[in-house]
Amino acid sequence: MKEQLEQIKRNAFAALEAASTPAALEELRVRLLGKKGELTAVLKQMGKLSAEERPVMGQLANSVRAAIEEELEIRKAAVSAAVLEAKLEAEAVDVTIPGQAIALGHQHPMNMVLQQIKDIFVGMGYTVVDGPEVELASYNFTRLNIEEGHPSRDRSDTFYFDDNDQVLLRTQTSPMQIRFMETHKPPLCMLAPGRVFRKDEADATHSPMFHQIEGLVVAEGITMGDLKGALVKIMKAIYGQEAVMRFRPHHFPFTEPSCEMDMQCHKCHGTGEVDGQVCSTCHGEGWIELLGAGMVHPKVLENCGIDPEKYSGFAFGMGLERMAMGRLRINDLRLIFDNDVRFLNQF
Ligand code: PHE
Repeated sequence: MKEQLEQIKRNAFAALEAASTPAALEELRVRLLGKKGELTAVLKQMGKLSAEERPVMGQLANSVRAAIEEELEIRKAAVSAAVLEAKLEAEAVDVTIPGQAIALGHQHPMNMVLQQIKDIFVGMGYTVVDGPEVELASYNFTRLNIEEGHPSRDRSDTFYFDDNDQVLLRTQTSPMQIRFMETHKPPLCMLAPGRVFRKDEADATHSPMFHQIEGLVVAEGITMGDLKGALVKIMKAIYGQEAVMRFRPHHFPFTEPSCEMDMQCHKCHGTGEVDGQVCSTCHGEGWIELLGAGMVHPKVLENCGIDPEKYSGFAFGMGLERMAMGRLRINDLRLIFDNDVRFLNQF
C-alpha cells in the first residue's frame, strides 16, 4: 500500500507538471483528490490493514494528499501567470506605429475666391448680407422697375413655383438691393453674394445655377465717378494692379445710366489672338465681361422709400464663377460644379 501511495504521488506530480491549462489542472484535481479519485480509492482499503499499520498508512496518505494539494496550487499559479503573459503578448499595442493619415480637404475654389472678394469689400466698409433664393416676383422684378411683360420675366427663362408667376427662384441677386433698402436707411454700403437660377442649358459658360455678388452703395452725392473708382479699385485688388478695365454703356431697368465692365483678356492682352489662333480665353474678343452696373434708378429708390432728390447710389452685379474662372484660369464652368477631386485638388 505504501508503494501504491508513492506511485500515486509520483504520477500525480508528473501529470501536474504536464498540465498546461487551468481546465487540465481542474480535471486533474478531480481525478487525484475527488471522491472518486485515486487517493480516495486507496484510503477505502485502510480497513483491511492491521491496527499497527493503519495510523502509519493514514499519516502517509495524508502527507501524499497534502503534497499533491500543495503542488496543485503551485501549478495553478504558474499556469494562470503563463496564460496572462500570453494574453498580454497577443494583445500588445505598438504605440510607436505611425497612425493612419486622415486626408484633410480644403475650401472649394469658388469659396476661396468668394472669401477673397468679401475680404476686399469688408475692408472698404461694405456689410455682407444673405437673402432668400426663393423670391417674390415683386422683389426680383417689379420693384426693380422690371415691368410686366419684360422678356426676363418669361417662363422660358425663369423657374416659377406658381401659376400666377409670383414666386420664383431668384434670377439675380438684385432683389437684395430692395430688401436692404427696405430695412436700412442711407448712407448704406451692402454686398450680397448668393445663388441665382436661370433656365439655361449647361455648357462651358452656362449653368442653370450660378452665383452673383450684388453690391449697393447709397448716400448723398454719389456719382458715376464713385462707381468707376470703386469698381476699378476692387478689380485691381482681385486681378492685380496691371489689370486693364473698360466700361461700356448698357441697359438695365433698375439703373440709369447703366454700364458693363470688361477686363482686358489676360491671355491675349486685348489682341484676340494667341500665336495666330483665336484666343480661347476671350474667344477673340480681347475683353472679358466682368459685371453689370449703374446708378440706382430713381424709381427703385422711391420703391424703397428713399428720396431720389436727396440720395443717389450705384449698384453692381458680378458673376462669381466668371471671376473664379478668370482668377484661377479655369476654362470650363462645369468643372466648378462637377466636384471631381482630381480637379479640386489642384487648388
Ligand atoms: N442683376 C444684373 C444681372 O443679373 C446685374 C446688375 C446688378 C446690373 C446691379 C446693374 C446693377 O445681369
